[in-house]
Amino acid sequence: MHMRQAFRASILHCLSDPGEESLPSAYEYFEDGLLLVDDGNVLEAGHAESLLPALAEDVSVTEYPGKLIVPGFIDCHVHFPQLDIIASYGKQLLDWLHRYAYPAELRFADPEYAREVASIFVNELLNNGTTTALVFGTVHPHSADAIFEAAQLRDMRLIAGKVLMDSNCPVELQDDAESAYTDSKALIEKWHGKGRLGYAITPRFALTSTEQQLAAAGRLAGEYPDVWIHTHLAENLDEVEQIARQFPSSKSYLGVYDRFGLLRERAVFAHCLHMDKTDRIWMGKKGGSAAFCPSSNLFLGSGLFDLAAMHDAGVKCGLGTDVGGGTSLSMLRTAAEAYKVLHLQQHTLPATRALYLATLGAAEALYLDDKIGNFLPGKEADFIVLDPDGTNLTARRTAATTTIEEELFALLTLADDRNVAATFVRGKQQKGQR
Ligand code: GUN
Ligand code: ZN
Repeated sequence: MHMRQAFRASILHCLSDPGEESLPSAYEYFEDGLLLVDDGNVLEAGHAESLLPALAEDVSVTEYPGKLIVPGFIDCHVHFPQLDIIASYGKQLLDWLHRYAYPAELRFADPEYAREVASIFVNELLNNGTTTALVFGTVHPHSADAIFEAAQLRDMRLIAGKVLMDSNCPVELQDDAESAYTDSKALIEKWHGKGRLGYAITPRFALTSTEQQLAAAGRLAGEYPDVWIHTHLAENLDEVEQIARQFPSSKSYLGVYDRFGLLRERAVFAHCLHMDKTDRIWMGKKGGSAAFCPSSNLFLGSGLFDLAAMHDAGVKCGLGTDVGGGTSLSMLRTAAEAYKVLHLQQHTLPATRALYLATLGAAEALYLDDKIGNFLPGKEADFIVLDPDGTNLTARRTAATTTIEEELFALLTLADDRNVAATFVRGKQQKGQR
């Protein structure tokens, strides 16, 4: 017996990248829409008027008048152990890591604490309408267990990994080349492909790994071509300079990862700010993806992501919050910061393209677009219900809009978790129970 569900509201989803021109053929909007879900998968999305008459009598219709259904958000880069150091005052990346990130991650030596934070973190993702994320753990293997268990309990599609770091960081947080390999391999065998979970080999960044460890990570990546690789790249100028000193035989930062077999499809690089055209093109050719983390880049004073250059080079890009360097787990708040970052570079970001970067574009960057990202038939039914009336200000502002593009832009600029009325994971409600 199939479990059928129907949801009636305005519906918006992307079919491709709307680009800087907001191409209307790249997205679909049903003002009075119906989303049909069958056993947790999308059956169809369309006009309520045409779909309702064919609906079997026993299928109940959940109505959300005045609200907007969009695909669940996908966060392409976030650190769950840094939840409690979000908004920590200080200097730029390298100082911030030593002052806040590493001390916070030391606390995850306690598996009980790791489980507690993982559970709170995942609930906070769902509260913000994020249904999939690519997540950093800590160096401790049980940190990966903790986040996978939390996601599994809620049936979320989530990718994570234990961090590899064996130099230039507190010794209590160091593994080594051998344990990085064996621990990651054991975690891959335990979690990768289990339900909706995926494993990411997670060297923190080249600065905190020896060549032996990067080689071990590359060897593992070669053995498991369908696992993800997740790391940081060219975020901060001091970092780039130190990389050049630490790896003098590589011609660039990206070249270090490439030399060790860590640049390929399903390799996701957070930030990618200080790169030249040659490296961008090389990254695009090899199928590496970029996580654009605007709130982090502004907060840590790292630099401005050049979306146009990445796009021209054929690099798949998705939005990431990068909490705790980022200042919000909300992909709505993150999209608002992305708009400003692009504006500073004489570019713009139409709301439809911002939605794409938080949904289908992110799914493409994670090589998950056959499963999530929009409402094409057969995709997994992860979706959220946005409420324009979630705050007094968004209610007033959106009341004055006349098109969906205008309304969505106002929401992306002003909204937050209060405007996420409900979050559904494979058709099951995980926020906003009525
Ligand atoms: N580079 C290496 N580690 C980190 C981290 O934890 N946060 C950010 N933003 N950049 C990093
Ligand atoms: Zn990060």
